[in-house]
Amino acid sequence: MDGKFISFEGPDGAGKTSVIRQIQEELEQQLGEEELMYIREPGGSRISEEIRQLLFDNKNTDMDPRTEALLFAASRRQLVVSEIIPGLKAGKVILCDRYIDSSIAYQGAGRGLGEREIWTINQFAIDGLMPDLTIYLDIESELGLTRIAKHRSNQVNRLDREKLAFHQTVRQSYLRLQQRYPERIKLIDASQPLPAVINDVKATIHDRFSELF
Ligand SMILES: Nc1ncnc2c1ncn2[C@@H]1O[C@H](COP(=O)(O)OP(=O)(O)O)[C@@H](O)[C@H]1O
Ligand SMILES: [Mg+2]
Repeated sequence: MDGKFISFEGPDGAGKTSVIRQIQEELEQQLGEEELMYIREPGGSRISEEIRQLLFDNKNTDMDPRTEALLFAASRRQLVVSEIIPGLKAGKVILCDRYIDSSIAYQGAGRGLGEREIWTINQFAIDGLMPDLTIYLDIESELGLTRIAKHRSNQVNRLDREKLAFHQTVRQSYLRLQQRYPERIKLIDASQPLPAVINDVKATIHDRFSELF
């Protein structure tokens, strides 16, 4: 397959959406709109969007965590088959906002389902289709939460304490993944101002794919 598969990882507030938007815009100018594909998980294909609705439906608050993990994996499977593989065959650059590492960090570590178990069900789902490059936007959990909550106050309040512990667990899992797969996963310091983060991301993409940027 001729395409390039780049995933973006990191906690909420790290800046994934902001970074991808800019990268997408610049690559569109460089390559043309047709050569790019943007995907946001879960969802991105008709069936995956229906699974997304199940996952986020307020009446499903009693959903079992393993059911949830399997639905994320199922949604990813459908996305791989209906969007990612055809896109790669067509030679496209695919920018994916979250992929398998999110499941490992959030469900495996954060929800405590086990990183190995989540890795296993997701390998079944993706059948070996790993990203060529993963941009991991690393940020200290307190700063990440502050960014999300910045309309409320500039401090993480007491009600956020539980969230903070969860985010720290997720971050430790991401850091372990990065140490385990340093060739695929590149760590970017996401605490920098956005233009500096974007510059680092572009340089990292260029290191891997010299024809981009
Ligand atoms: N490097 C940065 N410095 C300061 N604020 C940022 C930075 N990157 C993103 N933000 C802000 O943080 C919030 C979350 O950014 P977003 O791109 O949505 O992150 P994510 O998609 O990872 O959750 C937004 O309000 C965004 O404007
Ligand atoms: Mg986002």
